[in-house]
Amino acid sequence: MKTKNVFLIILSAFFISCAELPKNDEEKQVETLLSKMTLEEKIGQLNQLSFIEQEDLQPQIIEAIKEGKIGSLLNVVDPIKVNELQRAALEGSRMGIPLIIGRDVIHGFKTIFPIPIGQAATFNPEIVREGAAVAAAEARSVGVNWTFSPMLDISRDPRWGRLAEGCGEDPYLAAIMGEAFVKGYQGNSLADKTSIAACIKHFVAYGAAEGGRDYNSTNIPDHLMHNVYLVPFKKAVEAGAATLMTSFNDNDGIPASANEYLLRDVLRKDWGFDGFVVSDWASITEMIAHGSVADAKEAAMKSINAGVDMEMVSMSYITYLPELLKEGKVSEKTIDDAVRNILRIKIRLGLFENPYVDTEEPSILYAEEHLKKAKIAAEQSAILLKNNGLLPLGENIKTLAVVGPLADAPHDQLGTWIFDGEKEHSVTPLAALKEMYGDKVKIVFEPALAYSRDKNKSNFANAMQLARSSDAVLAIVGEESILSGEAHSLADISLKGAQKELIAELKKTGKPLVVVVMAGRPLTIEDELNASDAMLYYFHPGTMGGPALADLLFGKAVPSGKLPMTFPKHVGQIPLYYGHNNTGRPAQKTETLIDDIPLEAGQTSLGNTSYYLDAGFDPLFPFGYGLSYTSFEYSDLRLSTTSIAQNENIDVTVTLKNTGKYDAAEVVQLYVRDLVGSIARPVKELKGFQRINLKAGESQEVSFSLSSNDLAFYGLNKKFITEAGEFKIWVGGDSASGLEASFSLK
Ligand code: GLC
Repeated sequence: MKTKNVFLIILSAFFISCAELPKNDEEKQVETLLSKMTLEEKIGQLNQLSFIEQEDLQPQIIEAIKEGKIGSLLNVVDPIKVNELQRAALEGSRMGIPLIIGRDVIHGFKTIFPIPIGQAATFNPEIVREGAAVAAAEARSVGVNWTFSPMLDISRDPRWGRLAEGCGEDPYLAAIMGEAFVKGYQGNSLADKTSIAACIKHFVAYGAAEGGRDYNSTNIPDHLMHNVYLVPFKKAVEAGAATLMTSFNDNDGIPASANEYLLRDVLRKDWGFDGFVVSDWASITEMIAHGSVADAKEAAMKSINAGVDMEMVSMSYITYLPELLKEGKVSEKTIDDAVRNILRIKIRLGLFENPYVDTEEPSILYAEEHLKKAKIAAEQSAILLKNNGLLPLGENIKTLAVVGPLADAPHDQLGTWIFDGEKEHSVTPLAALKEMYGDKVKIVFEPALAYSRDKNKSNFANAMQLARSSDAVLAIVGEESILSGEAHSLADISLKGAQKELIAELKKTGKPLVVVVMAGRPLTIEDELNASDAMLYYFHPGTMGGPALADLLFGKAVPSGKLPMTFPKHVGQIPLYYGHNNTGRPAQKTETLIDDIPLEAGQTSLGNTSYYLDAGFDPLFPFGYGLSYTSFEYSDLRLSTTSIAQNENIDVTVTLKNTGKYDAAEVVQLYVRDLVGSIARPVKELKGFQRINLKAGESQEVSFSLSSNDLAFYGLNKKFITEAGEFKIWVGGDSASGLEASFSLK
């Protein structure tokens, strides 16, 4: 054989071995560590404590770490403290296994980005990835190396306060955004000092809590579980998410922390997840309250056997696993596998080589670059719901009256789940308007209400006075941040306190009125919408919410956000979402509404379709809706073919034109409907979106490529299948409009 060939064979063998080296090397490291560990040290790795709750027990915690009884802490954010605790683990314990340190870095660590539902409204995964990367760099710089984010819970119920932390009602949007969060947090390597381990949560279907009441039961059947609630988690696992957190809810009577089918069959076998699973806060021992276990010992047994590797704070593992092992109710292999999963992520994080924080490094917290990115994210998160031409505010506005409890609310604009962001760094709308536009426009301010729940109207007179003496009024209303987030469900999602009256009074002044709603969820705001000349919806925008809003109002930035949730007219319509099944009697939207029903109407005279006599069928705004200062025209929808076979693609092209006078971005959305399936299929499903920037007057072709796999769904035979048949396709600016075409799948 020629020398050259021999050389090539040796060379390729070398590269193959290198390519595999990290994997083997990693597993070798895991096995080497495991082989040296005592049972108690193994169980110690499964035990996580919250440092803040135990601060007064510091010496005991240090002792327990040295004895190898703690594998992880959450809520330590002081780098000096982190180093002290890591030193206890590395140098004080027999095995020297570093701690993994977690924190809820949900939408920023110090530099706070819009709440995740607001980031989803950007329909811009790049901006989400960048924000997560900023959060990771800031968090890791103080020693946090694990975040309990992204939350991927699909929610179709604005009563549920935690939708603020998620990416909305649609599985495709949530999947794309979840992937962006994971990539942003984890970067190119978990070992980088600007990366942290992601934790996709809450597994699973937590957002379907009955009645939108947090922690409540869910009853999601298998098809819906796979076709909606699992979709974003699968994508995030494919993106390499390092960890996953189980949820508080019981689904169909099975608490998520003991759901072996989901944790072992789906997550491990089907998806090949090789990170580790952590419970939610005491979700293991809360199974006693669920009534699915008799005591903490049984809870520990069920959870470890179902596949929960690490227990957050409830200490049933450290307490009962030794005797469960002796009793043969838990095997050593089960414990070993849990430890393997945790060690693997600690190795990937590089914690054995670099466990300590370099406290000499200059701080990157609130870095200018970070604040800039937070401002852009806030700008792109704003959704323009109405504009009769008042926006952007023109030269004719010499005096602007700023009114409302959220115009100067530095704490509340940060939104929910803020542990480390500081309100002192918030730039509020009022401050930004004065600073950035105060030379052009006289800004006069009267909050009128001290906070969103305030019912004290004693300052209304002054607010009306200011409004009457101004050229336009900017009212910023909405929710204090405490009204959304965990355990903060609402039965009534209209504006709280005297905010509704405030808007009504301002309307009566006859002055041009811009209403900005700053909230953690969709609210029922039809009255306020009707009273306003323009309305921007602004999910709690974070640190730079003020400067972003100021530039939007004056046209330096143009609104481009789209609704990540359907907005109901009335709370009684909930759940209300675009991707619903058609039912056997779909609303025709010509139904008689309550005020038009004739007296003594015959029982069947109104027809028999699915709608509300007092609220009709339609939402106030559909998923994907959002206006711009410019206008966009869609034309010339073209398909590359009218029929595809399995594993073929169909190319969809449309011409988009900016027909207005502002350079702007439009989120072009692609929806599909499978007209007939072995199970009823949704009337629409988002299958693609693109943010397109166009100069005024410019037009561009926008193309999507749809494969037959994109049409697959989880069907009767408990597998993902594609079925031949007819499909409709829409391309447009929201889920209720667009150019339509048809194609078939052979
Ligand atoms: C909370 C939340 C979870 C959070 C965890 C740690 O109860 O459900 O999202 O990450 O506990 O704070």
